[in-house]
Amino acid sequence: MQIIDGKKISAEIKEELKTEIARIISEGKNPPGLVTILVGDDPASSVYVKMKNKACAAIGMYSEIKKLDAETTEEELLKIINEYNNNPKIHGILVQLPLPKHINEDKVIESILPKKDVDGFHPYNVGNLVIGKETFKSCTPYGIVELLRRYNIETKGKHVVVVGRSNIVGKPVANLMLQKEEGANSVVTVCHSAARDLSYFTKQADILIAAIGKANFITEDMVKENVVVIDVGINSIDDPATKKGYRLVGDVDFENVSKKASYITPVPGGVGPMTIAMLLKNTLQAYNLQ
Ligand code: GUN
Repeated sequence: MQIIDGKKISAEIKEELKTEIARIISEGKNPPGLVTILVGDDPASSVYVKMKNKACAAIGMYSEIKKLDAETTEEELLKIINEYNNNPKIHGILVQLPLPKHINEDKVIESILPKKDVDGFHPYNVGNLVIGKETFKSCTPYGIVELLRRYNIETKGKHVVVVGRSNIVGKPVANLMLQKEEGANSVVTVCHSAARDLSYFTKQADILIAAIGKANFITEDMVKENVVVIDVGINSIDDPATKKGYRLVGDVDFENVSKKASYITPVPGGVGPMTIAMLLKNTLQAYNLQ
């Protein structure tokens, strides 16, 4: 069994991007720029936004955090996005989700210029993904594809089983793995909470992508020998033995499933660090596009 080290791979990608940005700056050009918009003060979202900002700075990318209070109206938010759409210093716009309930998330996503939609959430970009055209790949799914590629894991003709159908992970990763191209070209099954017998599907997986959001949900009896396991879950569980009183675990029972797996991503240190690295890569792509 081999651990897929997302921390190491994400560091490699950030190094590559840093070199590329240094080259851009050495030509006397402005660096690529990202704005992250945070509405309200959800603690997890605040942490993510700060991490994204720090990662930009570390590779020489320009970044701003736009913090708005929880009472910000939809109209105000749309106006701010429009300003960033027209701001030449900003090449990528990321609105941290979830948004407060009084704001229509779809409307907000659709207000971002598709060429600045580094999350790949705009229907225009989602549509292009589905029909196999060049587009922004959503960061977490893109990170998964990149991990498989950099570990030389064969995907062509393999059965990829995705558990979860969210717009952020399940649906886009299924579409990416389906593409008729290098690093994909898989046979893809998407299953979810309404499946009558989930393990009927998961047991068939050559590559299992777990994006359910339930701690230790995938158990060893649900997978076959030599499965490649990609665990997208980040769940906090009580653990009095730790200093904080809790710890993070994935959607996969790592301890037992890892005994059967050929490759597996740990939590933390697997898919998580890749999401930010791919966001930076998408921002550079947006810059080159613009
Ligand atoms: N919230 C959780 N994941 C994400 C993500 O990938 N992008 C945005 N914008 N918000 C998120």
